[in-house]
Amino acid sequence: MKERKGIILAGGSGTRLYPMTNVVSKQLLPVFDKPMIYYPLSTLMLAGIREVLVISTPEDLPRFEQLLGTGEQWGIEIQYQLQPSPDGIAQALIIGEKFLANSPSALILGDNIFHGSGFGEKLQEISHDLTRNLTLFACQVHDPERYGVAEIGRDGQLIGIEEKPKMPKSNYAVTGLYFYDEDAPKLAGELNPSDRGELEITGLNNMYLKRSQVHVERLDRGHVWFDTGTPESLSEASQYVQAVEHRQGMKIHCPEEIALRKGWVEPDQIIKQAKRLANSAYGRYLNKMAEDFKREID
Ligand code: TTP
Repeated sequence: MKERKGIILAGGSGTRLYPMTNVVSKQLLPVFDKPMIYYPLSTLMLAGIREVLVISTPEDLPRFEQLLGTGEQWGIEIQYQLQPSPDGIAQALIIGEKFLANSPSALILGDNIFHGSGFGEKLQEISHDLTRNLTLFACQVHDPERYGVAEIGRDGQLIGIEEKPKMPKSNYAVTGLYFYDEDAPKLAGELNPSDRGELEITGLNNMYLKRSQVHVERLDRGHVWFDTGTPESLSEASQYVQAVEHRQGMKIHCPEEIALRKGWVEPDQIIKQAKRLANSAYGRYLNKMAEDFKREID
């Protein structure tokens, strides 16, 4: 059976964040103590995914390569591919077709942050379940008209998804994390551009809905989801991460920690990496976390 692979779509123009994104990708901006892309990357790692493709613009892709490298430092493999222009989220599956090589996938948007108790375990279960064709995550929001909105039946099944509807049929937004079977690139290739000229992810998801059952996981009160596309949501996400990390003394979505706990790297490797960052709170956290881990396993 083929292992699931991950795709992070980290292109786009970030026009709602101008002038912050005039010369730098949205996904390189900080969310409290780490670059935004660390969060979707950590989400994929929590799902147990070790092969990841990062897709971004011609201007920004070299920056991501500089930041994340080969992934070896976290026991994973990261590859990179261009999206020449922001022609839609579903295009990520067409760009990633060769990388996926008939594997099932998890696609996550570079500006989506998920957190909640038990979320990692849930992700892992879903990722390993290869009987599902498509799993979506829906979250209640106060402004559903900004998103793809899920219409969900009484017994929890998905009835339909409408992209940015004027009259939303529910308050459930479809979030930017999608687990697809191996057919997704082929189906995405059959999509036509929408009125706004994009290959719409809602179009692809509705194709799945027509041919098979789509699973929709509702994120309940114990979970938070941020799409950090506006100054307000970016600031809110930063404040959330800061508050949780401060209260618990533990970091959220720290790739080094996830890699260590999954057994993908040795504590000494992290201690070595922490030395370079020793002047920052993040670096000191890595060092302490890896030293503690070493003592636990001794
Ligand atoms: P959006 O937030 O819809 O678009 P954007 O990032 O260009 O921002 P703005 O609306 O402010 O101009 O995109 C959601 C995510 O998907 C974001 O992480 C960027 C990414 N994306 C791409 O990488 N390529 C694309 O073609 C599209 C449409 C989005």
